[in-house]
Amino acid sequence: MENTTKKDPKIILTGDRPTGRLHIGHYVGSLRRRVELQNSGEFDKIFIMIADAQALTDNFDNPEKIRKSILQVALDYLSVGLDPEKANLFIQSMIPELTELTFYYMNLVTVARLQRNPTVKSEIQMRNFEASIPVGFMCYPISQAADITAFKATTVPVGEDQLPMIEQTREIVRKFNTVYDEVLVEPEALIPDNEICKRLPGTDGNAKMSKSLGNCIYLSDDEKTVKQKIMSMFTDPLHIQVSDPGHLEGNAVFTYLDAFCKDEHFAAFLPEYSCLQELKDHYTRGGLGDVKVKRFLNAIMEEMLKPIRAKRADYEKNLDAVVDILKKGTEKAEAEAAKTLDDVRKAMKINYFDTSILIDSYEKN
Ligand code: TRP
Repeated sequence: MENTTKKDPKIILTGDRPTGRLHIGHYVGSLRRRVELQNSGEFDKIFIMIADAQALTDNFDNPEKIRKSILQVALDYLSVGLDPEKANLFIQSMIPELTELTFYYMNLVTVARLQRNPTVKSEIQMRNFEASIPVGFMCYPISQAADITAFKATTVPVGEDQLPMIEQTREIVRKFNTVYDEVLVEPEALIPDNEICKRLPGTDGNAKMSKSLGNCIYLSDDEKTVKQKIMSMFTDPLHIQVSDPGHLEGNAVFTYLDAFCKDEHFAAFLPEYSCLQELKDHYTRGGLGDVKVKRFLNAIMEEMLKPIRAKRADYEKNLDAVVDILKKGTEKAEAEAAKTLDDVRKAMKINYFDTSILIDSYEKN
């Protein structure tokens, strides 16, 4: 007999809060991987979401910031090589089904469980929300579960800080499938396998690259800005004279080299060395100046950023087309979410007008 069992589809969903332009930390941490996954041909469907509704949960008083960031993020996506023919780019708040799913999932989660979510906990501290946590913010992990399950995503490529969200999603899926019917899919997180790529430090050496700290290199920065940011990067405060032995630990320039440098970069830009280890050895021994290392890093950065910048400039010339990509992507995404919402309503038997379900449940007394 012929084997007719169909392979389960492999579906990606991931996204970002649009609170500003994306930077090279986003690039090594997730964007680069997304493009690889997209081009691997291993996935049946790919959804990349601009999570504006989630961004509003902690920026409700500044919708303008979110609005302004939507096209920026869309351009960042397109310029790094996400291809609208292969990956569906869409805007979260334009899909009402996501909100509806969130509302039903809210019944499956306790307040205590939300309060235990470590990412939410640290965000509450960061934002000084302790005394008065907006309900919408508290519930964003539930809305994230709706984002993921609406597309029956199997794979969610995210940073490590998002693991608690995926865990919470899996719990919601299990609960839903037990209480109602087996319709939701348990997703797996896919986190960066490379330690340095998990969290790129800021140009000032701070552990986190973040807009509020002003220590980012943006994908959309021009050549001059990037150079100036790299030339003023934090290195080793004890490395004063070129002849002084230098330290690699906490040295942001070397951390970036760990993240971006390949052996072939030496042949192209710094042929006196053959690999990063040689450069590191010379630095720690003493006799290698920061300026030289920074110039090398800048050359590597430019090689990476130049094509990204060019692609961005192309799309920038035709923003209408970018909006159209988002609109088409959102329509397609909504059609998927609507199918899942149908399944969910059926499983809960709240699809009242589809069948004779109301009359069948009527009990005459
Ligand atoms: N929480 C993610 C972030 O802060 C954004 C996001 C929203 C997301 N919904 C998602 C990521 C669903 C993956 C899957 O960047």
